Amino acid sequence: MSFDRSIKIAPSILSADFANFGAEIQAIEAQGADWVHIDVMDGHFVPNLTFGPPAVKAFRPHVKTVMDVHLMITPVDPYIQAYADAGADILTAHIEAGAHTHRTLQAIRAAGMKAGVALNPGTPADAVEHLLDLTDLVCVMTVNPGFGGQKFIDMTSKIRKLRSMIGDRPIHIEIDGGVDPKTAPLVAAAGADVLVAGSAVFKGGSVDNPDVYGANIKAVRSAAESAIS
Ligand code: DX5
Ligand code: ZN
Repeated sequence: MSFDRSIKIAPSILSADFANFGAEIQAIEAQGADWVHIDVMDGHFVPNLTFGPPAVKAFRPHVKTVMDVHLMITPVDPYIQAYADAGADILTAHIEAGAHTHRTLQAIRAAGMKAGVALNPGTPADAVEHLLDLTDLVCVMTVNPGFGGQKFIDMTSKIRKLRSMIGDRPIHIEIDGGVDPKTAPLVAAAGADVLVAGSAVFKGGSVDNPDVYGANIKAVRSAAESAIS
């Protein structure tokens, strides 16, 4: 994975057809997705349950781009190797999920993955200051995690602060929650480069009507790019 700060659209398969993940992943990639975002929820850290390592391993052969795995689970450390074995390219843990995020990020990198740290809306940018040298991606949640389709919470001042803290370091800023063509310009202008979008990508489309995914991805991308050009 090479690093750049161009806008990348990462559809969340949380909004896909759960009976047809392989074809859904292929459809969004064929329609221009840069990364595939996979939301792992444990019914404990967040009030919803999705899938675990065996499902993520089954997604792997379908993902030709970047498999971006967002863990909304606690504890994290006992499962890091399982997600490495499942083929995650990026593994993101929440800073709120445990007392030892520094150790968790070290373990993710030691297992051969890129390490991400996610911040709930109530967590300040400063919380990651001493983690940045162990981090490849900071995920700024713009909803309280757990469900797709929630209303965007404005975190632009946090994004700006992170962007300035990161400086020239090769660290992505990813935005997750409520991203659509209206909110994408705000976060892109503030310094984000990876935009996760679930409902805004999958709405109105299907594997039999994938052009809609393409149009939706393009709408989010163009809106974001117009804010930084
Ligand atoms: C929220 C998840 C998100 C979510 C985004 O807990 O981490 O990735 O699926 O969905 P939308 O784009 O519908 O807000
Ligand atoms: Zn997510």
